[in-house]
Amino acid sequence: MTAYTLGSLLYEGKAKRVYQTDQTDLVAVEYKDDATAFNALKKAQLAGKGLMNCQISARLFELLEREGIVTHYLSLQEPNWMLVKPVQIVPVEVVVRNIAFGSLCKQMPIEPGTPLDPPLLDLYYKDDAYGDPLLTDARLERLGVLSASQRQELEHLAMAVNTSLRRFFAEIALELVDFKIELGFTTDGQLVVADEISPDTCRLWDRNVSGDAQERILDKDRFRQDLGGVVEAYGEVLKRVQAACPPPRLGK
Ligand code: TMP
Ligand code: ASP
Repeated sequence: MTAYTLGSLLYEGKAKRVYQTDQTDLVAVEYKDDATAFNALKKAQLAGKGLMNCQISARLFELLEREGIVTHYLSLQEPNWMLVKPVQIVPVEVVVRNIAFGSLCKQMPIEPGTPLDPPLLDLYYKDDAYGDPLLTDARLERLGVLSASQRQELEHLAMAVNTSLRRFFAEIALELVDFKIELGFTTDGQLVVADEISPDTCRLWDRNVSGDAQERILDKDRFRQDLGGVVEAYGEVLKRVQAACPPPRLGK
């Protein structure tokens, strides 16, 4: 275990709290049990969610690292805490879609379940006050948060994350329908994958359930759509991820 002392709260989001530590190169992230949807219009406490998302994220960040994709992750701190590098989050949510579902099917005439090949990449402005709107190229340019080459790098990273995660999830009989990631700049200016990767931020369907039965949904859509069994679904994802990944490193 690393000898570090927890400092002040830097940021509290809907699902996590981020703390400074006494070491400038270490930030501690606490995963909360709070669940929210529809820009926090819907809220609940789901006992064990924080721990499960933290455990899943740690393993997925390490998987990405093994595949040469840089992330903010440093190590897992039991049970629902991890240490990460400090990053300046880019206020752009990057969504990659392999199968049409969710907001895409509400915004254009595309049947839910339609395969998207090549995958579709959507960028959203990360700001709850504006409802995280879909960005156009011109609006992204106007925002001025990314240069053209940084944007290219961000999209390239998101596509590489998709390739890695999709292959990994397929091995554990999960279909990666879509996911959202956030990226940030480290203090030395490197763009890295940050935030979390969990059933809160990915749509995951159980490949062992045939057809489009609701039982195949193993992600936050169970909460969004009031399907019940949210914690059980996250537990099933964790069980499969745990079985397929080495135990995450502990400490610094
Ligand atoms: P969407 O279909 O609602 O646009 O969601 C696409 C993906 O992004 C889905 O896997 C859920 C994830 N997501 C988040 O992680 N946070 C959000 O605030 C939203 C709206 C979606
Ligand atoms: N994360 C968003 C919220 O809390 C929306 C979502 O994931 O559906 O409002």
